[in-house]
Amino acid sequence: MEKEAFFDMSYGLYIITSKFEDEFAGCIVNTVVQATSEDKPKLVVIVNKENTTNEVMKKSKKVNISILSNKADMLLIGKFGFRNSKEFDKLKDTEYILGTNNIPIVTEKVVSYVEANIIEEIDTGTHTVFILEATNSKKISCEEPLTYKYYHEVIKGKTPPKASSFSR
Ligand SMILES: Cc1cc2nc3c(=O)[nH]c(=O)nc-3n(C[C@H](O)[C@H](O)[C@H](O)COP(=O)(O)O)c2cc1C
Repeated sequence: MEKEAFFDMSYGLYIITSKFEDEFAGCIVNTVVQATSEDKPKLVVIVNKENTTNEVMKKSKKVNISILSNKADMLLIGKFGFRNSKEFDKLKDTEYILGTNNIPIVTEKVVSYVEANIIEEIDTGTHTVFILEATNSKKISCEEPLTYKYYHEVIKGKTPPKASSFSR
C-alpha cells in the first residue's frame, strides 16, 4: 500500500467543542463532512477515542463546529490540537461565544460555525464516527477557509498521532 495516495485527499480544518455539565472539551479535527443537505443538514465527524472531546461529546450528545480561516496560527491550532482539555483551559485567551445550545463556539480565526446534535455513534476501534444533525449555522467572516494542504505547506503544521489521517 502506498501511503502517498492518502496524502492526495483534501480536507478542511475545524475546532469542535462540546460541554457536559461543567466539563468543557474541544479539539482540532480535519474530519468534518456534510452528509445530506436537508432542512436540518446531517454531518459526520470522526474523533479519536482517547481525546477528551470524544468522551464529553458522548455524554452531552451535542457538538459545535468552527470552520477555521487560513489566518489561523499555530498558537490557536497548538492549543486545541496538541493539548488535553483535562489539563489545560483551552478557552482561556480564546475568542468564543455561547451557542444556542449553551456550548461555547470558538470564533477566533473562524469563517463559519455549525451547532449540532449527535444522533448516532459508530465505533471503528480507535475512532468514533459521530453522525450529526445541524440545529444552527452562521457565517461570521469572508476570509478563506483553511485547508489541510495550506496548513502543511504554508503554516508548516504537523499532524499528531491521534488525527484520523496518515501523518506526513
Ligand atoms: C492538524 C490536526 C488535525 C487533527 N485531526 C484530528 C481528527 O480528525 N480527529 C481527532 O480525533 N483528532 C485530530 N487531531 C488531534 C486532536 O486535536 C488532539 O489529539 C487534541 O489534543 C485532543 O484534545 P482533547 O483531548 O482535549 O480532546 C488533529 C490535530 C491536528 C493538529
